[in-house]
Amino acid sequence: MKSLLKFITCGSVDDGKSTLIGHMLYDAKLIFADQKKALEMDSKIGSTGGELDYSLLLDGLMAEREQGITIDVAYRYFTTEKRSFIVADTPGHEEYTRNMAVGASFAELAILLIDASAGVMVQTKRHLRICALMGIRHFVFVVNKMDLTGYDKDVYYKIKKDIEQLTDDMDIDSLYVIPVSATKGDNITNPSENMKWFDGSPLLSYLEEIEIEDNSGDGGFVMPVQRVCRPDYSFRGFQGQVERGSISTGDEIISYPSGEKASVKELYILDKKTERAVAGQPLTIVIDREMDISRGCVIASGRKVSVNNLFKGKMLWLDDEPLKMGKSYYLKVGTKKVPASVIRIRYKIDVNTGNHIACDTLVKNEIGVVEVMLAEKTVFAPFDDIREIGCYILIDSESNMTSACGVVEHELRRGQNIVWQDMDVTRKLREEKLGQHARTVWFTGLSGAGKSTLANALEKRLIMMGRHTMILDGDNVRHGLNNNLGFTDSDRSENIRRIAEASKLLNDAGIIVMVSCIAPYDRDRRNAKKIIGDSFREIYVSTSIEECEKRDVKGLYEKARRNEIPNFTGVSSEYQVPDHADLVIDTTGRDVEECVDEIMDKLGL
Ligand code: ADX
Repeated sequence: MKSLLKFITCGSVDDGKSTLIGHMLYDAKLIFADQKKALEMDSKIGSTGGELDYSLLLDGLMAEREQGITIDVAYRYFTTEKRSFIVADTPGHEEYTRNMAVGASFAELAILLIDASAGVMVQTKRHLRICALMGIRHFVFVVNKMDLTGYDKDVYYKIKKDIEQLTDDMDIDSLYVIPVSATKGDNITNPSENMKWFDGSPLLSYLEEIEIEDNSGDGGFVMPVQRVCRPDYSFRGFQGQVERGSISTGDEIISYPSGEKASVKELYILDKKTERAVAGQPLTIVIDREMDISRGCVIASGRKVSVNNLFKGKMLWLDDEPLKMGKSYYLKVGTKKVPASVIRIRYKIDVNTGNHIACDTLVKNEIGVVEVMLAEKTVFAPFDDIREIGCYILIDSESNMTSACGVVEHELRRGQNIVWQDMDVTRKLREEKLGQHARTVWFTGLSGAGKSTLANALEKRLIMMGRHTMILDGDNVRHGLNNNLGFTDSDRSENIRRIAEASKLLNDAGIIVMVSCIAPYDRDRRNAKKIIGDSFREIYVSTSIEECEKRDVKGLYEKARRNEIPNFTGVSSEYQVPDHADLVIDTTGRDVEECVDEIMDKLGL
């Protein structure tokens, strides 16, 4: 079997990546005849004035592959007599760094393009750092557009020296710097006639010959599940790419994170049934029993993986916005996407000296060693052990930009983990774990207005939706926390203050709180809002005194009218109507559930 080389091309927008790969395929006769004709036709009206525009070839092929599927990285397969190749072509714009990081995590070798007339750019250094962090140890620097410099060897040697300096203290297995012209074809598949001073092999030959240690076949089977295939009730297959080892029908597998065991009943490569599959193949596995397996799970056999929600790892920060500790991002590892936050930065690494520097944030292009907490137990592995589930990217949950990429060093076991105690568990983290935004929904209004009824119905609705809630009802709280308070102005103020403080604590725990309490005075409600902060929502239950009195569920209005209850709100004590409530609801003649609908809708709960 021919060996397989997985590589990535990195370059800025106009460095000529597509042209380079396109030309390589064309020269090596790796395209079909009709594609060649189409290319010639296209180029006549294209930008190169009659010369073949090789970038059209690759762009065309990529467009084909991309139809109907959203992929971050376009993978192109080709094969020569000596070797098979998969190239991950990723867009060069800065905002596509995520794709580059994803592409790099799969590749063994990186081709970095440099425009001969521009030299080594900031972008080049950035790409180099990302590739190195994502585990690439073989680098080819292609100094392109040599034709535009008149094939000047001094230009090449100057750039070569810069590159050698740049990579000097890096952990690299091989480095090759080659002068080419992607448009003219110099040093692509044949030695250049224009650069006789260069005695290295042309690019394709170099790629065919370079030796790369491949250990993907060793030590057990690993396959992250990409999708569950269920064409009908009788068939249920788990699909993904075999990343490590091999598997045969009858083998025992373990599905992670659950740790459940099963036997392999059937295997399919594409739609063909098979007895065995090996690393690199796209596989569908059918097992001999019902198991809860979905995208993000990992099927393995004879290989240890980590199932944990805490790890230590290296992180390269890519975003203009600096890293915020405790902020909720998304982390993508293998096929799993999970909410995550950085809970500690142990140090950052000075890229020039390698020194460790204490810090509390990472800014663009800085590399740090961090501890990352995931919202749920997730399957991963140390990068050195299983690369494919040992690297990750961090995505900003608001902007959806790639904030960082990195590798897992090892999981952190909570028990032995001293860090855990001084960790910043923020409200945000707790909210994330509960999968909700904490709020205090405060119902104010007269006694009998319907506050408790609404609060109860709202809570039931939220619970049914899987939310985590608590209710603080004026009457009930007065039986415990506030049992020393009566109904004088100052006692009512204290009553509201305590309820507000309790709500805030519950909000800090990530809980959605419903308060139902008359809170007749504006200044007390303002104070409550101040205590609770942004999570405070006020609902004024505006049911009229006449209606409340007509209902008189507790018989209190009657008593108050008989002067048996002093300071009774609405009768002998004032109720100040709120003028800035988030929502006003009059419950007269209204269905409770309909009111709840309105609350859910208007408050966006
Ligand atoms: S608040 O004014 O301090 O916000 P809270 O909502 O806690 O009042 O308690 C109101 C409940 O206490 C009423 O629903 C009623 O059952 C009872 N209550 C007893 N005395 C009074 C009073 N003087 N005024 C209002 N409610 C009273």
